[in-house]
Order: sequence, then C-alpha cells, then structure tokens
Amino acid sequence: MSENYECISVDAVDRVATVTLNRPDKRNAMSPQLNSEMRDALTKIRYDDGIDLVVLTGAGDSFTAGMDLKEYFRETEGDPTAFERVRDVAWDWQYNILRNLPQVTIAKVNGWCFGGGFTPLTSCDLAISADEATYGLSEVNWGIIPAGLVTRDVALAMGYRTAMYYILTGEPFDGKRAAEVGLVNESVPRAELDERVAELSSHLKGLNPAVLRTAKETYRHSLDMDYGQAWDYTAAKALQLRARDKEGGRREGMSQFLDKKSFKPGLGAYARPAGSDA
Ligand code: COA
Repeated sequence: MSENYECISVDAVDRVATVTLNRPDKRNAMSPQLNSEMRDALTKIRYDDGIDLVVLTGAGDSFTAGMDLKEYFRETEGDPTAFERVRDVAWDWQYNILRNLPQVTIAKVNGWCFGGGFTPLTSCDLAISADEATYGLSEVNWGIIPAGLVTRDVALAMGYRTAMYYILTGEPFDGKRAAEVGLVNESVPRAELDERVAELSSHLKGLNPAVLRTAKETYRHSLDMDYGQAWDYTAAKALQLRARDKEGGRREGMSQFLDKKSFKPGLGAYARPAGSDA
C-alpha cells in the first residue's frame, strides 16, 4: 500500500497498517487535505483483507494538535457551505470510517493531543499513551466548544465529572492521567511506547480476526439499543460470525478444550489452525 500522500503516511507490514499523521511542522494539525487523505487511506484499508490491525499515530513530537485553526476554521469563516464541505470529510474519516473499520484499531499517542484530536483517539478501539504526551480540551481558550463528537466521546471514556472538569477548565494533563481516567488503556514511558504497541499488536494478531471484528461491532452498536434489542442483535451477530469465520474458531476451540485437552482459556490462547493468516 504505497500512496503519494502529503499529510499522512501508511506503512503496511505483516498484516499491520501503521497510519501516521504527518505534518510535524504543524504539530499534525488536521487540515482539510489531511482529512481527505485519511478518508482515502482508511477506505482502502477497510476493504483490504491483508490487514488485520491498524495503528494510528503522529510524526515527530505530536499525536495531533487538533483541527487546523487556520485552514479548517479561519479560511472557511463566513462561508457555511465551504465549512460544511471540510467538516463532512473530517466527520467521515474520524467517525464513520475509523470507528467502524473491521480491523482492530490502536491509537499510539506519542505526544500533543488537543481538541479535535480526541475524536480519532476515542474512535480507535484501544489506546496506548506515552507518559510524556500532553492532552488538552483547549477549546474554551479559543472561544469555541469541544464540538464534533469530542464532548460525547470524552464523556463516554472518562465519565461525567472528569469529562466536565476538563471540558470546562481546558487544563492540560499527561499520559498517566489519561490512563487513570480511562481515556487510554495504559501509559508507558515514551521510550517504551513502540515496544508496548508492538507487543499488543502481536497478541491481537494471534487471535481470530473474524471474532475480533464481530466483538467490536457488537460492542459499538449494542450500546445504542435497549436490552431486548441488544439481546436479539447479539444472537444474530453470533450466527453471522459462524458464517464469517473461515477458520471455524468455535468448533476448533471446543475441540482443543474438550477432545484434545490441549487448551485451557485461563492459561493461554487457543492455537489457531494451520493455514490461518497470523
Ligand atoms: N492548527 C493550526 N496550526 C497549528 C495548530 C493547530 N491546531 N497547532 C500548532 N500549529 C502550528 C503553529 O501555528 C505553528 O505554525 P508556524 O510554524 O507556521 O507558526 C506550528 O504548528 C508549530 O506550533 P508551535 O505552537 O510553535 O509549537 P510548540 O511545540 O511550541 O507547541 C502546541 C505545540 C501543540 C502546544 C501548540 O502548538 C498549541 O497549543 N497548539 C494548539 C492546540 C489546540 O488548542 N488545538 C485545538 C484546536 S481546536
């Protein structure tokens, strides 16, 4: 997967696509062009059967400094149609596509993460931060509010009191605090970030991708349903998984446990059958 993008880069190695926001001079601020390139790249990844995992990160010392204050906000001021055009592309990749990718997604937060950067962060399934990363819902300083889905997503990840605190104060916080409040799964020293994400990627690649895909879809969609709907939807997803799962993980796992006695889930992962992708 080698495209000539200017504001991002995509490297696909061993079934993992690393997508890097790549405007380090502008602290990876998300300009209309970057948003458009992200939409293109993620659409390609979405339909690529050779990719099981996506890592989203930033070049240099930033994850992303948020939406581009000049190109996204100032240059569209006074022109609602122009603003809607760039806003819809941002919404498309940050919410529609990224959140609903069939592949598992990991945000690798290497540095600055501000404002609109919280949407791609929370749209990823998992997030690992550098302790040294700095986060900020800085909008109150700009005369704007955390818009798009930032408020909703931050509330979901951090909970009511903590989300309200950072939304109202704009106070920055570090990676350790992000882990403490549930915005990311864990935080490690910057020097160990690549290694920790590689380790997590390696674990996830050893699991059945059809199961992971269906598990994340079920989680995301059932949250918006009432209990009866969620019960029935989950039953239907479980049946869909049996049609989707080329390696027959359900039958294989049970056989390893009940017949071969070669696998106990409490003690380790089941061995994917020979010929599986990982
Ligand atoms: N939009 C557009 N440009 C941005 C940007 C943003 N969100 N964030 C940084 N940049 C640009 C700066 O304007 C500067 O451009 P220039 O070299 O042409 O002057 C360049 O990136 C470097 O920024 P600078 O502030 O000098 O870097 P720094 O390392 O000293 O500080 C930050 C980094 C992230 C702390 C600081 O840039 C910042 O606070 N950015 C705004 C973050 C924010 O509030 N985002 C929310 C937007 S809603």
